Amino acid sequence: MDLFLANLFSSFTRILLLLFLLHASFSFISTDGYDAFDPTGNITIKWDIMTWNADGYVAVVTIFNFYKYRHIESPGWQLGWTWAKKEVIWNMMGGQATEQGDCSRFKGTIIPHCCKRKPTIVDLMPGTPYNQQVANCCRGGVISSWVQDPANAVSSFQLTVNQAGTNNTTARAPQNFTLNTPGPGYTCGPARTVNPSKFVSEDKRRVTQALMTWNITCMYSQFLAQKTPTCCVSLSSFYSKSIVSCPTCACGCQNSITQPGICVESESPNVPSALSRSGKNSHAPLVQCTRHMCPIRVHWHIKVNYKEYWRVKVTVTNFNYRMNYSQWNLVVQHPNFEHLTRTFSFNYEPLTPYASINDTAMFWGTKFYNDLLMHAGPSGNIQSELIFWKEKSTFSFEKGWGFPQRIYFNGDNCVMPPPDLYPNLPNASVPRVTSLLCLLTMILVSLVIVLGYV
Ligand SMILES: *[C@@H]1O[C@H](CO)[C@@H](O)[C@H](O)[C@H]1NC(C)=O
Ligand SMILES: *[C@@H]1O[C@H](CO)[C@@H](O)[C@H](O)[C@H]1NC(C)=O
Ligand SMILES: *[C@@H]1O[C@H](CO)[C@@H](O)[C@H](O)[C@H]1NC(C)=O
Ligand SMILES: *[C@@H]1O[C@H](CO)[C@@H](O)[C@H](O)[C@H]1NC(C)=O
Ligand SMILES: *[C@@H]1O[C@H](CO)[C@@H](O)[C@H](O)[C@H]1NC(C)=O
Ligand SMILES: *[C@@H]1O[C@H](CO)[C@@H](O)[C@H](O)[C@H]1NC(C)=O
Ligand SMILES: *[C@@H]1O[C@H](CO)[C@@H](O)[C@H](O)[C@H]1NC(C)=O
Repeated sequence: MDLFLANLFSSFTRILLLLFLLHASFSFISTDGYDAFDPTGNITIKWDIMTWNADGYVAVVTIFNFYKYRHIESPGWQLGWTWAKKEVIWNMMGGQATEQGDCSRFKGTIIPHCCKRKPTIVDLMPGTPYNQQVANCCRGGVISSWVQDPANAVSSFQLTVNQAGTNNTTARAPQNFTLNTPGPGYTCGPARTVNPSKFVSEDKRRVTQALMTWNITCMYSQFLAQKTPTCCVSLSSFYSKSIVSCPTCACGCQNSITQPGICVESESPNVPSALSRSGKNSHAPLVQCTRHMCPIRVHWHIKVNYKEYWRVKVTVTNFNYRMNYSQWNLVVQHPNFEHLTRTFSFNYEPLTPYASINDTAMFWGTKFYNDLLMHAGPSGNIQSELIFWKEKSTFSFEKGWGFPQRIYFNGDNCVMPPPDLYPNLPNASVPRVTSLLCLLTMILVSLVIVLGYV
C-alpha cells in the first residue's frame, strides 16, 4: 500500500515536472541565445593594437552591437576581463575602470589608471572634455540596436597597457571577457587573433591598419538575463465583447510566497517611498500590481474591417515605476506583414531572415515624439495603428488569424495568451468545452508517458 502511494506520489511529481517543462518551453523560446528572427545577432568586441611601446601597447577597443533589435540602455555597458599576465592599464581615454585597485608597487607621481587583475570598464558620460574623448565614446554606455540607429550601435575606448608584451608573439589576449548591462545576459567567447583591422581615412585616399587585432563575440540569452518573462500580450477585437487579458502570473504572482510584496497599487500614495526604499536594488523592476505582474503589456486590438483593408491598434503599456524605456522596440510576427500598407507614428522595418518569408516586422518610436516609453502612470503608454491590405487567399478573421503569432519587446519574448482563448467570431463560437478537453487529453497523455517510465 505504502509502495503504491509512493509510486503515485512520484508519478504526480513527474507530471508536475513535465507540465512545468511544457510551460517553460512555451515561455522561453530562445533559452540558448538562438533567435530565429535574428540568427546572426551578436555583440563583437574588437581589440586593435595601434602602437607598440617600450613596455606594452596602445589599443582601441570597440564594441559593435550587431543585434537587430536589442540595445543597451542607461546605465550602460560594463566590460570586464582577466589579464593573462601582470598587465596594468596605464592610461585610458573615452572610458574608465570602475576601480583603480592596488597600485602601491608603483613609485613616483604618475601611477597607473588601474592595477586590478580583473578590471571593469565603463563608458564616460556625454559632455566629457574633448581631450579625454575618442571616436564613438562618451554616451554613458548606451548602445543602439543595429536596425534602429547603426551610427550609434558602436562604442569605443582607448587604453595604454603596460607590463604587456611588446610584439605580436609576446602580447597575450585578455581572457574571460564579461559584458553586463549592468545585469547578466551576455556570454562572451575567447579572444581570437584575426586579420588586422583596416581603417580608411576620411577622404578615402589612404588605408591604415592595426598592428594586431583580437575579436571576441558575445551572445545574449534571455534565460541568463532573468528567470521570469518581462512582457505579456493581451488581445481584443471589434467583433467580440471579450478582452483576452495577459495570462495570470505571466511574469510573477502577486501573492507569491517566495517574493512577497514586490508590487505597488497604482493609486497608492506609497509609490515614491517604495521607489526610494529599495535603492540598492534599483535596477530590478518595481511594478504596478496586476494579475500578470509584467513590467510591459502589449495590447493588439483589431479595430476596423474595411472592404479592402483592415486596421489594428497596438498599445504598449509600462507598468514599471522604475524605468523609462528609451529607444524601445517591438518585433511582431503576423502572416499579413507582407501587405502592411501604413503605420502611424511608428518606424517600421521588415525583418526577413529567410528571404522567402516576410511575416515579421520591427517597430520603434519616432525620435523626440514617442521613442521614450515613460514609467508607469498616466503617460506610461504609447500606441500606433497599422493598416493591412487584405489578400483574399489568406485573409480571415476566423480562428484568431488576425492576432499576432509572436511579439518581442526590446528583444525579449512576450507571454501570449493560449490560442484557444482568442476572441471568436460571434457565429463561430466554439464552446469552451474543447479547451477543457484539450487540457484533459494533455494531462492524460503525459500520465501515460510518465507511467511508461515508472
Ligand atoms: C556577428 O554578426 C555579424 C553581423 O551580422 C556577422 O557578420 C558575424 O558573422 C557574427 N559573428 C558570429 C560569431 O556569429
Ligand atoms: C618579441 O619580443 C621578445 C621579448 O622582448 C623577443 O625576445 C622576441 O624576439 C620578439 N619577437 C619578435 C618576432 O620580434
Ligand atoms: C607577427 O608578425 C610577423 C611579422 O611581423 C608575422 O609574420 C606573424 O604572422 C605575426 N604573428 C601573429 C601571431 O600575428
Ligand atoms: C577563465 O575562466 C575559466 C573557467 O571559468 C577558468 O578555468 C580560468 O582559470 C579563467 N582564466 C583566468 C585567467 O582567470
Ligand atoms: C572581427 O570583428 C570586426 C568588427 O565586428 C569584423 O569586421 C571582422 O570581420 C571580425 N573578424 C572576424 C575574423 O570575425
Ligand atoms: C522618467 O523621465 C521623467 C521625465 O524626464 C522623470 O521625471 C522621471 O524621474 C524618470 N523616471 C525614471 C524612473 O527614471
Ligand atoms: C516585406 O513586406 C513589406 C511590406 O509590404 C515590404 O515593404 C518589403 O519590401 C517586403 N520585403 C521583402 C524582402 O519582400
